[in-house]
Amino acid sequence: MTSPYLDVAELLLKLKNCVVLTGAGISAESGIPTFRSKDGLWEKYDPMVYASIEVFRTNPSKYWQIRGDFIRNYDSYEPNAAHGALVELENLGIVRLVITQNIDGLHRKAGSRRVVEIHGSLREIICQRCDRTYLAPNIPGGDPPHCECGGVLKPNTVLFGEQLPTEALEAAIRESSRCRVMLVIGTSSVVYPAAHLPVVAKQHGAKIVEINIERTIPDADFIILDKAASAMTRLIEAIETLQRTSTE
Ligand code: OAD
Repeated sequence: MTSPYLDVAELLLKLKNCVVLTGAGISAESGIPTFRSKDGLWEKYDPMVYASIEVFRTNPSKYWQIRGDFIRNYDSYEPNAAHGALVELENLGIVRLVITQNIDGLHRKAGSRRVVEIHGSLREIICQRCDRTYLAPNIPGGDPPHCECGGVLKPNTVLFGEQLPTEALEAAIRESSRCRVMLVIGTSSVVYPAAHLPVVAKQHGAKIVEINIERTIPDADFIILDKAASAMTRLIEAIETLQRTSTE
């Protein structure tokens, strides 16, 4: 059997025009918990209570109570080798865009230039009364933070029951329909519309490559079952090997 790494490396070098879709799994090795894995956030807390916009409007303390279990200090996390590999692939002219469900900002921190954050970002919190926006690297645990006007602050992220940011979603669908390869890294592929993006890509003729410790896309063309950081490191090595042999 040939190595999936060499097969995928060959595919990326040949087709280029790759769009990446990432989920919580790519940040797991940066120390940020996933949602649905064993010990994940939604294994401990019901998201329909703790992360729903309906509940947030009447009882924002539910969200703020558990927020510290996820990310308390936005600035304290570092990108890992998988985020770094996506920057290298962008520099090589292979990756055109990273679409992420993650709200941790680690793709931008790693240096990816073209990133669409379809679930928003924890970078900012917004007043629910006057719309004033604050930069929010540190989040207090427990009680909801308030704006100077007295309004409750909400992170600039999508809670269950909320619409995704229109511009980001439109860009994600458009670019998914235009790519020739989609790399899907570390997502359980159960939350829509994100989970629909590989379907859009495949319908338009793209090859789908899944990198995950479990298989979530049954009809992916290639599957690499490994943790994101080691998988992406090996993928970059395979690309470098092919580039070397083609110039020898
Ligand atoms: P999930 O927690 O649902 O899925 C994480 C995926 O990452 C699983 O398929 C794991 O197998 C995989 N995984 C875990 N560790 C990994 C590693 N080291 N390397 C590679 N893969 C690994 O996270 P998402 O799919 O991102 O929504 O969840 C989607 C959305 O549900 C989130 O954006 C969030 C959540 O509720 C909102 O906040 C709106």
